[in-house]
Amino acid sequence: MFYIGVDLGTSACKFLLVNEAGEVCHQVTREYPLSMPHTGWSEQDPALWWKACLDGIPALLQGFDAAQVQGIGIGGQMHGLVALDAAGEVLRPAILWNDGRTAKETDYLNNVIGRETLSRYTGNIAFAGFTAPKILWMKEHEPALFARIAKILLPKDYLVYRMTGRFATDYSDASGMLLLDVEHKCWSKEMCEICSVQPEWLATLYESWQFVGCLQPEVAAALGLPAGVRVCAGAGDNAAAAIGTGTVGDGRCNISLGTSGTIFISRDRFGVDATNGLHAFAHADGGWHLMGCMLSAASCNKWWMDDILKVTAKDYPAEQAPITEDKLGRNPVFFLPYLMGERSPINDTDARGTLIGLSMNTTRADITQAVLEGVAFAIRDSFEVARSIGVTIPRSNLCGGGAKSALWGTILANVLGIPLDILVTEQGPGYGGALLAMVCCGRFATVREATDALVHVSRTIQPDPALTARYEERYRKFKQIYPTCKALFKELAD
Ligand code: XUL
Repeated sequence: MFYIGVDLGTSACKFLLVNEAGEVCHQVTREYPLSMPHTGWSEQDPALWWKACLDGIPALLQGFDAAQVQGIGIGGQMHGLVALDAAGEVLRPAILWNDGRTAKETDYLNNVIGRETLSRYTGNIAFAGFTAPKILWMKEHEPALFARIAKILLPKDYLVYRMTGRFATDYSDASGMLLLDVEHKCWSKEMCEICSVQPEWLATLYESWQFVGCLQPEVAAALGLPAGVRVCAGAGDNAAAAIGTGTVGDGRCNISLGTSGTIFISRDRFGVDATNGLHAFAHADGGWHLMGCMLSAASCNKWWMDDILKVTAKDYPAEQAPITEDKLGRNPVFFLPYLMGERSPINDTDARGTLIGLSMNTTRADITQAVLEGVAFAIRDSFEVARSIGVTIPRSNLCGGGAKSALWGTILANVLGIPLDILVTEQGPGYGGALLAMVCCGRFATVREATDALVHVSRTIQPDPALTARYEERYRKFKQIYPTCKALFKELAD
């Protein structure tokens, strides 16, 4: 038997063919462009995602027995607004998670409706990338199109709709719309009123592994699949990636050092911190999670290496070689990693990257080290917010491109003071999607059963008590830099 996991990303859609033993037998990627019609805007035509499926899934099946495919699960880029008319046609290009046009609407929600009210209704406050401010933007700027809205979907839900003909979403992805009462897992009537959303526009809510529908016969034929293939509701990409790394159950944690950085803390009950510094979302295992999303993580290192030092990825290890064990926890140079402003936990679009502590003795390697450490300290900031509400995080998984650097892993394990597990198979949201499809098809009774059986640790980076103590002292210094610069960042932005 096979299961198809789909990762509907921002630059590409990745398809995985996974067998019953959880092995990835084949993978195929189809890229598509991002459209930025104005500064700060980020859009994509949903037709591109569907074309990627029509092209990618038959290619994925080449050389395999398609009749063995049982189910499909999708992990998708979150927060994007896909608006459909009464005939199910897309009204305008999807407005994506990284689109920044809604500053005014976000400000209205946070400051006129008020953060406390938003947090009471949804467990979260507004961020420019979230779906609700985009709906308000459409109402204001595209009233004729707004008047024709019959359904609003998230990106992966559009694919589920094309596959099954059903309007469905899951709790993890719906959490990022700011229309869901995350604690009670139902649409918030109050938020719908605030955002002029008609209840009938909203999709039916499911748990991520639940069955939504079978492939429509003509779709199955176009994809080269049998008609009985089951499609589950799927999950937002971070929740799906967490499933793929076995981050399931209370206090389990996954840190991803990708272009952006995320710390994902699984919880068996709903909880929110005092400042809404972390997103309080539903998880794809039936529980909840807290998530810190840092806008620049591995991209800080890439910026420093590629754009400033002009070295290529294959030279990264050579650049890191002078950073020997004795240098760790002793670097006088600090770096604030806010190259694109920051989401969690400071929520400050004006914050900027900053190097501080330079002297005539500072070396190229000291700055390289400061960049890696700055990202680790910023992750610690979100980690501390989770701790502030009593969450215990004894260890974490570590994944993403940055996890390839053993040095970065050591720095992070010691900055956080916890062991970091590296997994045998790390395939991101698509792998989580495939595991959800397995549960949907009855291969496993629960998501936990699937991850316990199929997700395995390959090695663990242990923190060293002496180094952790040195980093504790460094972190206390790092923590003072942003509050000192905050007002200046605003002034520089103005
Ligand atoms: C999460 C977020 C991103 C997107 C893009 O809140 O904005 O991780 O899901 O992948």
